[in-house]
This record gives sequence, C-alpha cells and structure tokens, in this order.
Amino acid sequence: MESLKMALFNGLALVMMLLISAEAQGEDINIVNLATAPASAPFSSPPVSAPAPAPHYVNVSNVLEQAGQFKTFLSLIAGTQAETQLQTQANNTQQGLTLFAPLDGAFSSLRPQYKAMLSKLTDEQKTSLVEYHAVPMFYTLGQFQTLSNPLSTMGSYKFNVSAFGAQVNVSTGLVNAPLTSSIFSQAPVAVYEVNKVLLPEEIFGLPIPSPAPSPTPVSAPTPALSPSAGVQSPLSSSDHTNGAAHTWHLNAKDLAIQSGLAMFGFLFLLLNQQCV
Ligand SMILES: *[C@@H]1O[C@H](CO)[C@@H](O)[C@H](O)[C@H]1NC(C)=O
Ligand SMILES: *[C@@H]1O[C@H](CO)[C@@H](O)[C@H](O)[C@H]1NC(C)=O
Ligand SMILES: *[C@@H]1O[C@H](CO)[C@@H](O)[C@H](O)[C@H]1NC(C)=O
Ligand SMILES: *[C@@H]1O[C@H](CO)[C@@H](O)[C@H](O)[C@H]1NC(C)=O
Repeated sequence: MESLKMALFNGLALVMMLLISAEAQGEDINIVNLATAPASAPFSSPPVSAPAPAPHYVNVSNVLEQAGQFKTFLSLIAGTQAETQLQTQANNTQQGLTLFAPLDGAFSSLRPQYKAMLSKLTDEQKTSLVEYHAVPMFYTLGQFQTLSNPLSTMGSYKFNVSAFGAQVNVSTGLVNAPLTSSIFSQAPVAVYEVNKVLLPEEIFGLPIPSPAPSPTPVSAPTPALSPSAGVQSPLSSSDHTNGAAHTWHLNAKDLAIQSGLAMFGFLFLLLNQQCV
C-alpha cells in the first residue's frame, strides 16, 4: 500500500514538473484561432531531463508577409532602419521581441488628420513609429497580466498594456488598441495583431477631440492603478470607434495547466484521506 502511494505520488509530481516546464519555456502553440487549438498539445514535451531545443530563428518580415494582411506595415518597416533593428532583436534569444502589427485596415481607417501627418513623417520619425510597435522582450499572452506599466518600446517612447483574462489592450494615450489575434508566438518572437496603428503622442500630438455624440473621455479621470494589483483595472478608452470587444479564449496550454493543477490537488487530498 505504502509503495503504491509513493508511485502514485511520484507520477503526479512528474506531471506537475512537465506542466511547469512547459509554462516556463513559453511554448505557446502557434495559432491564429485560439479557440480551436488542440487541448492535447502541451503534453508532447519530452521528459524534464531532455536538453532544451536550440533557439528558433524567426524571420520577422517573413512572418508578416505570410500572414498577408500587413502590407502597409511591411512597407513602412522596409523604408526605415528599423527593419534591421527588429531582426537583430528577434535574433537576440536572451530577450527576444514582441511586435504589435497593425492590419492594413488600421492604416486605411486612420483619421484624415493622422493620415496626412503619416505621409509627412521624416525618415527618423518613421523609424520611431515602427520602433514604437515593438517591445525588446518576448512576451506570451499570459505574461501581459503581470507587466508593470508603462512598458518601454524599442524606441524612446512608452505605452501601457492592460490585460483582463485573455483580453489585452495597448494604450498610447492617443489610441486604445485591443490585441485581435496572435499571429506568431514561439520564443524568442511574438507577433500580435492590432486593428489600430499605435500612435505615440510624441509624434502625433495630443488627442484630437472625438466628434459628437460620443462623450469626450479625455476629461474623464482614469482611476489610479494600484501597482501591487496583478490584474489592472481597464484603462479609459480614448477612441470609441471600435465597438467590437474581442473576447479571447484561454489557450489550450493554460487550460491544461489549470486542469492539471486541479487534478493534482484533488488526488493529493484523496491520498491524505487514505493515510488516516
Ligand atoms: C526574410 O524574409 C524576407 C521576406 O520573406 C526575405 O525577403 C528575406 O530574404 C529573408 N531573410 C533571410 C535572412 O532569410
Ligand atoms: C539573424 O539571424 C539569421 C540566422 O542566423 C541571419 O541570417 C541574419 O543575418 C541575422 N539578422 C540580423 C539582422 O542579425
Ligand atoms: C500608463 O500608466 C501609467 C502608470 O500606471 C499612468 O500614469 C499613465 O497615465 C498611463 N498612460 C496611458 C497613456 O494610459
Ligand atoms: C480594452 O478596451 C476596450 C475598449 O476598446 C474595453 O471595453 C475593455 O474593457 C478594455 N480591456 C482592458 C483589459 O483594458
């Protein structure tokens, strides 16, 4: 009886270690549609003692090109020094890269004022704008929950990221952009889709008041965020044009880890019960 219990206990401990190591490696399943990711995927990792796989070389431009809907962003990148900077950062496997890529539609739906400003940017400003869409660190979706704001981008400007469950927003002060899809997420590179161009106030100036009838959120005070809180309260939106709030499903890995933890707890209690 005692040895059976030990064997069961050891088995459970191994499952726990596998789950934790899968989480630590940040092995996000490479998905476009998070809802349909296979639930069994996280268990394909080899046992803990296996050597870590060699870091993956990711061609950033190629990822964007393959995705198909980032032609404007790609041409913006191609015209600047940021192209090499992005790839150099992606090659840096210690830190990696998280890129927020605006869809073509994000550029075409910019307000006329911003379109005009965009077309007149200097080369230096274009580089800054591209750099503003990149963070010099690899972040999985789950890690956005615990980041402290503001977040330094690859350039000299910062933005805030707020997350609640699987919903993540990037807020620049001028725009509030929800992450609408995970294009690529495999250490050391993550590419997330946003449906708005991230406009830094430093280049595009202070917010232009929204046309009526939407209330002007600029004057509404944002409640102070408690730095100790893991999950932050939603930021006030400075752009009401996007009504669609994208609710994401937790990815398969997170669910597997959670159910693994629950199962472990349950069996642990059961074992203790039988000890008495
Ligand atoms: C990266 O991908 C782009 C676009 O597909 C391609 O033009 C370029 O040659 C690739 N770079 C390397 C180093 O493979
Ligand atoms: C990134 O790494 C790849 C593969 O090692 C290499 O071909 C490419 O030149 C590197 N790019 C930069 C900008 O360092
Ligand atoms: C970003 O967060 C900081 C600290 O919580 C806050 O002071 C600042 O106003 C926020 N900025 C934006 C644009 O939301
Ligand atoms: C994200 O922004 C939307 C508005 O676009 C808002 O409804 C939602 O509460 C925000 N979520 C977070 C986590 O900040």
